[in-house]
Amino acid sequence: MTTMKAIRIHSYGGPEVLQYEDVPRPGLNDDDVLIRVHASGVNPVDWKIRNGYLENMVTLPLTPGWDVAGVIEEKGPEVTGMEVGDKVYSRPDIFRNGAYAQYIAVKSSEVAVMPESIDYIHAAAVPLAGLTAWQALFDLAHLHAGQKILIHAAAGGVGHFAVQFAKWSGAHVITTASARNHAYLKSIGAHETIDYSETAFEDVVHDADVVFDTMGGEVWQRSWKVLKRGGILVSALPGAAEGEGGMDALNKLSAFVFVQPDARQLGEIAVLIDSGHVRPEVAKVFPLHEADKAHLASETGHTRGKIILDVTGG
Ligand SMILES: NC(=O)c1ccc[n+]([C@@H]2O[C@H](COP(=O)([O-])OP(=O)(O)OC[C@H]3O[C@@H](n4cnc5c(N)ncnc54)[C@H](OP(=O)(O)O)[C@@H]3O)[C@@H](O)[C@H]2O)c1
Repeated sequence: MTTMKAIRIHSYGGPEVLQYEDVPRPGLNDDDVLIRVHASGVNPVDWKIRNGYLENMVTLPLTPGWDVAGVIEEKGPEVTGMEVGDKVYSRPDIFRNGAYAQYIAVKSSEVAVMPESIDYIHAAAVPLAGLTAWQALFDLAHLHAGQKILIHAAAGGVGHFAVQFAKWSGAHVITTASARNHAYLKSIGAHETIDYSETAFEDVVHDADVVFDTMGGEVWQRSWKVLKRGGILVSALPGAAEGEGGMDALNKLSAFVFVQPDARQLGEIAVLIDSGHVRPEVAKVFPLHEADKAHLASETGHTRGKIILDVTGG
């Protein structure tokens, strides 16, 4: 078989531009593996790109989806350390075609063995959001035991990993979410929960070592107030990048996380999942051909955990 089913975008716009098509299977570079996709995670960046974000950096037609779990079907001649038949997961290069497809070609250095204790659907929930949280908390904020962290949008795709990583690291974890998510957040390690619709977080949080913000805008602005002297505000929103690496008068730092593929970190996250410290949450699963419905669900901005495309059934 040389063709496959895939979702492609031929023009920017709403969910209706996601076309379910027969397309050629991707070719392999020498250091690529071909993954038979079982499941693909849906992330806000998918519908942002669908709407034209990054239009100067990507070319159409484009297959979205930069979270994948599946099985290695073929490998290029330079690939070592992994074999056909391996069960893997990855956050592949965002500037290549993604995983809303039956097959995806991925650079082998971006691929890790998936956790043994979870299925493909849950494995596909991990890479992009998990790596974002990991890189924000540990590469940028250097979070460690005994510190206090405020995590915004803690029940979301990125946030629910951040809560579990922070708890595992020994930090004191404070979260913002609507009340319906508070019991869930406590169950995954939050020490404190703040209902953002009832309470201004800056009125009740003080002297935080770290704030992790996936909201941006006024949430980012207000977050400065809760940081202690020398604390760091890490944001996943580019609008917050003006202060990147900078310091204000109180020695407060800010940084912007832009998630990078990292197989080594995916390996570390797999260990945490298999040891029971981290549990990916899946809110809803859609078949590949209903990618438009999956985008609409993600665009509500109120997903708990992740939305996943099951690619096995077409
Ligand atoms: N820079 C990067 O590398 C990078 C990587 C990943 C993601 N991102 C960006 O980060 C953002 C979040 O991504 P995601 O995947 O976590 O999104 P998501 O899963 O769609 O986030 C949904 C969550 O946001 C919460 N929420 C909504 N309004 C809130 C508010 N005012 N205060 C606190 N929580 C609120 C919701 O909780 P309730 O239902 O309880 O309201 C829900 O659980 C997106 O804009 C995404 O593009 C950037």
